Amino acid sequence: MSVRDPNGGHAEAADRSVTAAGAVVAEGDVPLAGCAALVTGASSGIGAATALSLARQGAAVAVVARRTGRLEELAAVIRDRGGSCSVLTADLGDAVQARRAIEEAVDCFARLDVLVNNAGYVAMGTIEGGDPAEWERMMDLNFSAVLHLSQAALPHLLRAAANGPRGIADLVNVSSVGGRVVRRNNGVYSATKHAVGAFSEALRQEVTGRGIRVGLIEPGMTVTEMSTGPGSAAARGMPQNAWLQAEDIARAITFVITQPPHVAINEIMVRPTAQER
Ligand SMILES: NC(=O)c1ccc[n+]([C@@H]2O[C@H](COP(=O)([O-])OP(=O)(O)OC[C@H]3O[C@@H](n4cnc5c(N)ncnc54)[C@H](OP(=O)(O)O)[C@@H]3O)[C@@H](O)[C@H]2O)c1
Repeated sequence: MSVRDPNGGHAEAADRSVTAAGAVVAEGDVPLAGCAALVTGASSGIGAATALSLARQGAAVAVVARRTGRLEELAAVIRDRGGSCSVLTADLGDAVQARRAIEEAVDCFARLDVLVNNAGYVAMGTIEGGDPAEWERMMDLNFSAVLHLSQAALPHLLRAAANGPRGIADLVNVSSVGGRVVRRNNGVYSATKHAVGAFSEALRQEVTGRGIRVGLIEPGMTVTEMSTGPGSAAARGMPQNAWLQAEDIARAITFVITQPPHVAINEIMVRPTAQER
């Protein structure tokens, strides 16, 4: 697996320290030192880039997806750079496994300061000709998993906000431009992402007064397995070299999470410059 770090570079060995969460980090500007993060869907694409980026910012990172081998490769890269990474294997479309992933992450690092709900699945097609099994797969992963992971994480995030090194905790949901803009042939995916947007805003209102920031990221066309594989989204007339890279979205997620405690960035849509809608 090829993994690029959106923040670039490697921590220098001479400038390292061990944080409360067990992460070995470079001293200096490490805003997530002492924090633990869980990133879902980290075996490829945006999730892998986000895990690398958060580790670079000093977080101990738990990564979850179904492909354990891919997660182990990512963890090796993070550890080579002096970071701390735990691999959790789960099918997050299953509510029990999703909830268990939160508890396993907390078992690993004895805390949880950041949850990035990134795992997602798309099956394009008309509603008339759609396969209900594919609808359920999208609903289970893109929406239900976000509910279960978020609810299970809340007590831990509240604890991190009350007692953690930053005095704040972050829950970031990865939606899509499709969570704002509806197109034919993408109706069910778009509906799941609209649901994520509505859920995120309701949760934000519920917990913001207690120090949990809820952020929503809405990527446009991004080069990942999802967008380039068989049956993937159409390019909307844009050559692939004009699309975003996973690292572009990871940078936006990291930007949200590393704001000072009094700043909550609630929503960011990131499109390729060439993408009209
Ligand atoms: N790429 C785009 O153009 C684009 C645009 C807008 C929004 N997004 C959103 O960005 C997020 C990340 O997608 P990506 O583009 O980075 O695609 P990706 O490379 O295909 O990544 C999807 C991730 O989700 C994981 N996943 C899929 N099914 C899972 C399951 N049942 N249980 C656990 N993990 C599962 C995959 O891992 P395993 O297969 O190993 O389980 C993989 O790590 C998604 O929410 C997607 O909707 C992407």
